[in-house]
Amino acid sequence: MKKIYVGIIGFGTVGSGTAQVMYDQMDRMARRSGLQLVLKTVLEQHPQTLPEPFADIPVITSIDEFCQDSDLDIVVELIGGMEPALTFVLKAIAAGKHVVTANKALLSEHGMEIFQAAAQANVEVGFEASVGGGMPVIKAMKEGLVANRIDSIMGILNGTANYILSKMTNDGAPFAEVLKEAQDLGFAEADPTYDVEGIDTAHKLVILMTMAYGMKVKLSDVTIEGISKIEPTDISFAKAFGHRIKLLAISRNHGDHVEARVHPTLVPEDHLLASIGGPMNSVHIHGDMVGDILIYGAGAGKMPTGSAVVADIMDIARNIDRGCINRVPALSYLPEEIGERAITPLSHLRCPYYFRFSTVDGPGVLSTISGILGQHNISIESVIQKGREAGKTVPIVMHTYEASEAEVVLALAEIDALDITTADTVKIRVLTGDK
Ligand code: HSE
Repeated sequence: MKKIYVGIIGFGTVGSGTAQVMYDQMDRMARRSGLQLVLKTVLEQHPQTLPEPFADIPVITSIDEFCQDSDLDIVVELIGGMEPALTFVLKAIAAGKHVVTANKALLSEHGMEIFQAAAQANVEVGFEASVGGGMPVIKAMKEGLVANRIDSIMGILNGTANYILSKMTNDGAPFAEVLKEAQDLGFAEADPTYDVEGIDTAHKLVILMTMAYGMKVKLSDVTIEGISKIEPTDISFAKAFGHRIKLLAISRNHGDHVEARVHPTLVPEDHLLASIGGPMNSVHIHGDMVGDILIYGAGAGKMPTGSAVVADIMDIARNIDRGCINRVPALSYLPEEIGERAITPLSHLRCPYYFRFSTVDGPGVLSTISGILGQHNISIESVIQKGREAGKTVPIVMHTYEASEAEVVLALAEIDALDITTADTVKIRVLTGDK
């Protein structure tokens, strides 16, 4: 049986999961492809003996030695972060190796450079594991949806943030405690602010948008707001309004411009994305031919992410075997078709809003706030004010009808400057329909 030789850079959670999936599923994959995937070498910055059943696999520390191994067909980068990952990937490509990576941060910032180098060297770059862990969303975007104009993408793309929000919703657990649990479970990034501040989600949205629309997208194109300011009280009030709070990546295609935003969102309880709990991920895509589709799966973790990495390895192995490298363009559009497109300014957004005002308790407070909102054409759908303690801060919580983001920004600046408000207003956008 034909053998395809694989080298892995980084034998941490995902690296060891990838090796385990290759080992455990070797026979099944051979029956499916007629190929045997062989883990030949591991590159680790600190040499070590690998655990059984990989103890005989040589561990080396030099990327040059790794790349000079002429047997090696596919190099799998699983160290994450920018450097040395970028250097290692470019060296592997220059040496004529196909590359598989799970590194969303790297691709969202240096994707164009990497894909250009790969096209010149006529090698493939697989990156299924970079978005949504084990969910095959990249494959769906590249192949399953090839006959569709993508109209919108809405996703829960960070397991850590979803785990935190789910635990806060279901158990009333405090933010910091749940973040620690997610870190202990191995879901969180090396720097967990990437998870909670929406940066990791934005990295993944950049990749999906590039593929969906055939456009160049930069991280700085994405409006990014995280979940660190969400308090248990917002979760309870959201529930009272019939919603769940989720960290969503949202992009809607308006033809000559597209939205790119990541922020906490009130999702109606009966929306499919409201039911995605724990560390699970899900992407809701609307294609003009297929309509709505929902992809759901484990967004992080050793074996699910290993499953996605090995799917890429197998795709490339099959293409090597059949002599059809880059049969499907890596970014779903031909490189020369990937162009520029405008990003919709956030100020153009219209949606309903959730506001939590921190106010001193007293007569006329509510009418002052609603007066300012009215002057900015912001109409209130419902209000909750619970508890009173003279002279103390009390929350006033509102759910509005659809309003303009630009007007909301102006109104909140006015309200937050008043003596009756004691802290900046918490503002969370509300999802309606596909908005
Ligand atoms: N830190 C990421 C998450 C890992 O929590 O989803 C998968 O990309």
